[in-house]
Amino acid sequence: MTSLTGRSFLKELDFTPDEWRSLLDLAAQLKQERRDGVEQQRLLGRTIALIFEKSSSRTRSAFEVAAAHQGAHTTYFDPTGSHIRGKESIVDTALLFGRMFDAIEYRGFGQDTVEQLAEHSGVPVWNGLTDEWHPTQTLADQLTIREWVDKPLDEVTIAYLGDARNNVGNSVLAAGALMGMDVRMVAPTQLHNTDEVVAQARAVAEQTGARITLTDDVAAGVAGADVIYTDVWVSMGEPKEVWTERINLLTPYQVNAAVMDATGNPDVIAMHCLPAYHDRNTTVGEEVYQLTGMEALEITDEVFQAQREVIFDQAENRMHTIKAVMVATLARN
Ligand code: CP
Ligand code: NVA
Repeated sequence: MTSLTGRSFLKELDFTPDEWRSLLDLAAQLKQERRDGVEQQRLLGRTIALIFEKSSSRTRSAFEVAAAHQGAHTTYFDPTGSHIRGKESIVDTALLFGRMFDAIEYRGFGQDTVEQLAEHSGVPVWNGLTDEWHPTQTLADQLTIREWVDKPLDEVTIAYLGDARNNVGNSVLAAGALMGMDVRMVAPTQLHNTDEVVAQARAVAEQTGARITLTDDVAAGVAGADVIYTDVWVSMGEPKEVWTERINLLTPYQVNAAVMDATGNPDVIAMHCLPAYHDRNTTVGEEVYQLTGMEALEITDEVFQAQREVIFDQAENRMHTIKAVMVATLARN
C-alpha cells in the first residue's frame, strides 16, 4: 500500500483508486478496533487547527471526536473569531498555522483556499467542505454502502438526485468514478456537473470501469439503482433568493416513495449527507412550508424515517473515515 503520510486531502481526484480504497479499508479497521475496545492512539500529542468559515454539526464533531480518540488536540476557529481573511490573508494564515499546528482542517468557500493552505503551510490540509468538493463525505458514504449493500462497490449503482453540481454532487461523481461504480447524476440539465468535472470523472472511469450517466429523466436514472442519494437544494453560501427557482426546478427530483419504487429494487437504500429538510421542524423547513405548502423538500419524511438507520450510520461514519484520513496522513510510521 502506498503511504499517504504527509499528504493533504483536498479532493477525491488527487488520489488513485488504490489510495482511496486504502482509506476505506483503514476506516473499517479503525471502526472495528474502537468497537472491540482495542483502539491505539496514533496521533498522541499532535495539534490540529479546525477552520470553519461555514457552519457544521457533523464534520466538526467528527474531527474533534476522532482527534480525541487518537490523542490529538484540536483548536476550533469559528467563522468570526479569528483574523483569518479579515485582517490576515489565507497565505499568511497558512504560514502562521504551519508553525503552530501539525495539520489543518478547512471548511469554507473556494477550493483555492484549501489549495493555498496546503501549498503554504507545509503540513497536511484536510478539506472539510468547499463550494466545489466534499471528499470526507464521500469516504463516509462509501464505507456506509460497503456496510449496507451486499456487493463490491464496482457492482453498485448509485443515483444522485438534486443539485448535481454542488460540492456533494461533484464528490459523489468523482468518488464513484474512482471506485468503478455505476453513477447516475439525475438533475435538470442546468444543474448538471460542469463539463470540466464530468471530463475528469470520465478520465478516471476509463481506468476503473465506472459507468457515468447524466440525465434529467428520473425514471431512467433510478432504474435498477442500489442507492438513491440526495442533498439540500440550496447549499451554504448561496443567496436566499435562489430558493424559489431551485424548488421549482428540483421538486420533480424529490426522493419519495415513488422514486424508491421506480428503482425496481426492493433492497434499495436512500442516503443523505445531512442536514435534511424532511419535515417542518427546522426554521428553513417551516419558512418554505409557509411559502409553498411543501412539508418536505429533497426527501420526504416517509422515506427519511424508513431509511433512518442507513442515514445515521452514514453520519457516524463521518467520524471513522475522518479518523482514517487523519491517521493515514499524520501518524508517524
Ligand atoms: N454532512 C455534513 O457535512 O454535515 P455538517 O454540515 O453538519 O458538517
Ligand atoms: N451541499 C451542502 C452540503 C452540506 C453538508 C452545502 O454545501 O450546504
